[in-house]
Amino acid sequence: MARANGGDSNRFKGINTRLAHSGHDPHAYFGFVNPPVVHASTVLFPDAKTMVNRAQRYTYGTHGTPTTDALAAAIDELEGSAGTILVPSGLAAVTVPLLAFLSAGDHVLIVDSVYFPTRRFANTMLKRLGVAVTYYDPLIGAGIADLMQPNTRVVFTESPGSNTFEVQDIPAISQAAKAKGAVVMMDNTWATPLYFRPLDHGVDIVIHAATKYPAGHSDVLLGTISACKDHWPVLQSAHDTLGVCASPDDVYQVLRGLRTMGVRLEHHGRSALEIARWLQSQAGVAEVLHPALPSHPTHALWKRDFGGTSGIFSVVLDGGGESQAHAFLDALEVFGLGYSWGGYESLAVPVSLQDRTVSRRDYGGPVIRLQIGLEDVADLQEDLTAGLQAAKNA
Ligand SMILES: Cc1ncc(COP(=O)(O)O)c(C=O)c1O
Repeated sequence: MARANGGDSNRFKGINTRLAHSGHDPHAYFGFVNPPVVHASTVLFPDAKTMVNRAQRYTYGTHGTPTTDALAAAIDELEGSAGTILVPSGLAAVTVPLLAFLSAGDHVLIVDSVYFPTRRFANTMLKRLGVAVTYYDPLIGAGIADLMQPNTRVVFTESPGSNTFEVQDIPAISQAAKAKGAVVMMDNTWATPLYFRPLDHGVDIVIHAATKYPAGHSDVLLGTISACKDHWPVLQSAHDTLGVCASPDDVYQVLRGLRTMGVRLEHHGRSALEIARWLQSQAGVAEVLHPALPSHPTHALWKRDFGGTSGIFSVVLDGGGESQAHAFLDALEVFGLGYSWGGYESLAVPVSLQDRTVSRRDYGGPVIRLQIGLEDVADLQEDLTAGLQAAKNA
């Protein structure tokens, strides 16, 4: 009898079916539906010959376990990648591939709307290691060809960009970068593989802060990095060399989270879009930065390439400064004031865009990022109404 669980869920069309059955074959482990959580450093070998030849599936904890294999296989199935490594945070998922592919004397192009700690890593460690860094406008598209130098080894993309959510023309950028032999990396955390599959659009290396939607409960830090066939050996070797492996409990929690990510994400996305549209008509709001709104400058690209929206976007208050922003934030009761996103609870963060170098824009008022959780929309709207009123009174 054919069974749903069989190690390759790609034969199922429905994404929720694939999320439910990817990564682990229960019949390979006594029929248990979930994989074991293997805590491991030492792995024993049956004899000396097997040991010196490393001729068995598992050899040491840092090189993988049945638990890490289950999650990596699930991500490979979702992303269409040749291999995935797991690292202890989303930030490590950014820094490890950059370290893996860049050497002294190389040049890297990084999108200006990048997650700030990625910029900090580039401006400190990469520069110290002799890598030249150039930031480019998120709207550059095929124009990236003009910035390519003979030593440009990596083009780093993040789409939509952090805080202002510009969607990049990934196919055009990938084509131009690859014509010059550069490796294209993408931080795909916002969309997850459910709403955008970077490798299908020419990207070589896909990065996820699995801390966000895959984990989904604000209690786990984890990163995943997936590679196409040509670049998998370099990525895998860097993982082994650096020793940045993830904890088995965290890996297990993320695989557990993946099973429900489709239904959670649909709820996050629907509520976020409803609130984004509603905010557009509220007094005290100048602009809503959400790529699925026709008013967003990169809406057409989102519509062309993405299959859905997740739950994070920004709102620009209609004038004012820090005291209005703080009044808005302090009036919120359902939204927590906290970093990160992708969890079940709503969060608000004041945004600073001071780090931007080539895509600076004056938004005319404070920018506040909202992560829409799984609460009821009416309660979130009531909270935001109180925030807008407080900003007006400040
Ligand atoms: C786009 C993006 N990439 C990477 C990260 C880093 O993830 P982590 O918090 O797991 O280090 C974040 C965190 O906010 C992020 O927003």
